[in-house]
Amino acid sequence: MKAIVYTSQCGHTQRYARMLSEKTGVPAYSMKEAREKLQLKDEVFYMGWLMAGTVKGIQQAMDRYVVRGAAIVGVSPQGNGDLWTEARINGGYSDSGGRLFYLQGGYAPEKLGLIHRMMMKTMARSVIRQVEARGDAATEQERRMAEVFRNGGDFVREEALDEIVQWFREGDHSGELKATPRVEF
Ligand SMILES: Cc1cc2nc3c(=O)[nH]c(=O)nc-3n(C[C@H](O)[C@H](O)[C@H](O)COP(=O)(O)O)c2cc1C
Repeated sequence: MKAIVYTSQCGHTQRYARMLSEKTGVPAYSMKEAREKLQLKDEVFYMGWLMAGTVKGIQQAMDRYVVRGAAIVGVSPQGNGDLWTEARINGGYSDSGGRLFYLQGGYAPEKLGLIHRMMMKTMARSVIRQVEARGDAATEQERRMAEVFRNGGDFVREEALDEIVQWFREGDHSGELKATPRVEF
């Protein structure tokens, strides 16, 4: 693998990318840095944050590089459920054999630009309202998500990378991500 390429707005994905770089010895570049450091069609592992069901920057990464695998970073514990579950059902592979992972990042509204902050505010409000309406019937996980949307949260942790590090160690990979993974939002 030539490099880890990432897109990050609030820093969670960047921290994961840097940690993964330390653990694997493969350099990590932001998408912008990658334009200077990498050649077209270089083999990369892509890391991008989940925004309303799409993975930021992944299409551009697939256009320029050979994306052998990707880690998607979202705020929920399971990546909106579906993407992660589908990847899992599929053994964690896209249709064309690229490896897919999910990592829980965090929620830091103070680091968001105005538009994204407004989008998240609407979502946060609706999640909090739904959980409150469920009262005692709300699960522990739903309560925790409501809490994250109230006060922010940071779930970046080194151990979450274990499976990805293991995959890097397995050596050469031939699968490639060719279509944008998408989840219903
Ligand atoms: C506009 C917007 C939409 C988002 N949509 C989702 C989503 O669909 N699912 C999810 O799990 N997280 C979603 N998030 C949360 C981010 O994926 C999460 O905060 C992530 O850790 C951000 O990574 P970063 O710190 O590298 O920018 C959204 C965040 C924003 C700002």
